[in-house]
Amino acid sequence: MKLTEVRTPAYVIDEKKLRENLEILDRVQKESGAKILLAQKAYSVYQTYPLIAKYLTGATASGLYEARLAHEELKVREGIENHVYEPAFEDDEMAELCQICDHIVFNSLNQLEHHRKTWEQPVREGKISVGLRINPEFSTQEEHEIYDPCSEGSRLGIKLADMPAELPEGVEGIHFHTLCEQDFEPLRQTFHHVEENFGRFFPLKNEGQEPSGDMAVNGAGRKIKWINLGGGHHITREDYNVDGLITFIKEIKSKYDMEVYLEPGEAIALDAGYLVTTVMDIVHTQRMPVLVLDTSAACHMPDVLEMPYRPPLRDSEQPGELEFNYRLSSRTCLAGDVIGDYSFVHEINIGDKLIFEDMAIYSMVKNNTFNGMPLPDIDIMHENGEVEVIKKFGYQDFKMRL
Ligand SMILES: Cc1ncc(COP(=O)(O)O)c(C=O)c1O
Repeated sequence: MKLTEVRTPAYVIDEKKLRENLEILDRVQKESGAKILLAQKAYSVYQTYPLIAKYLTGATASGLYEARLAHEELKVREGIENHVYEPAFEDDEMAELCQICDHIVFNSLNQLEHHRKTWEQPVREGKISVGLRINPEFSTQEEHEIYDPCSEGSRLGIKLADMPAELPEGVEGIHFHTLCEQDFEPLRQTFHHVEENFGRFFPLKNEGQEPSGDMAVNGAGRKIKWINLGGGHHITREDYNVDGLITFIKEIKSKYDMEVYLEPGEAIALDAGYLVTTVMDIVHTQRMPVLVLDTSAACHMPDVLEMPYRPPLRDSEQPGELEFNYRLSSRTCLAGDVIGDYSFVHEINIGDKLIFEDMAIYSMVKNNTFNGMPLPDIDIMHENGEVEVIKKFGYQDFKMRL
């Protein structure tokens, strides 16, 4: 089956593009010494995890379910790492996470201490490593305020004023996440800001660290063993400064004796998926004809409304640029369920298939069945162009959640 022959609506993962992204990320790992994790919140098509496991160091989870998914589906080889960070963990979750994860990041000192009784022993035994998320209080973008963890009043991460003079006993890592779809320069600026404020916890090379895992002797002047620079790095975007990132990480690693992690989500599956849809009806309005599609922004691509943005559509241009102009909308009842305005060289007819680009990320992980809308199939387009259906959904998927 070819891409244009699939049953719609359908998300189609492009395996070739995914592999090409992974190859870029692997080069960053190999040349810089950084370890790269898949942030599953952006992309969790676990049927492709064996491919991802060939290249990346592991995954990070936003909670127990994603952590379980990586534990079950990504740990296909020795050494795959399973990290987790969540603003607040439940007690039961923490017990299980200590079994299936190797790195656990806490959002506050309260959370760290609340769960100490559960994580302390596995840390002592060297089975897991615990870190703290800090809030650098350093915003580098205003475009997407909803995705700015450094905005005023943010609950995400410990601010400098709340950080103790010494790292709490047992803590071995620092995590920050502040970027969103950004290039390397904002990361460099953020790191230098973090270094100025939290650098006292970074182990300078040749400083004479205590042996790892021994919390008793690793007392005053306690240093971290790893730093996680979060996600939001658009490393696989065509114009990203990959060499700048590699050089920068090498500089960090030559100055400090610590592992450097990156946990991008988008970069893993950027441009590696499509949402194929069919035109069901055309409604003529005073402004322009509206295409009623069998997909929905609200249900199948919520970021279009939340971020908001206008997704790229194959063989189309900005409105007004080409002869035939349409508003692309959905068959839900929500008046604002509009994907955007587009223009085409030819007229669009009922029954035509349209292909939204860059739909692998933050789509399947966020979709919903509002209005009882069916969930799109999930398909994989293999390297030879053949499309395979891997998941179909039906009425039960709608009913079971209610
Ligand atoms: C803590 C954390 N890590 C990683 C990511 C992944 O970010 P992105 O998909 O933008 O690379 C996010 C996104 O929200 C996040 O909150």
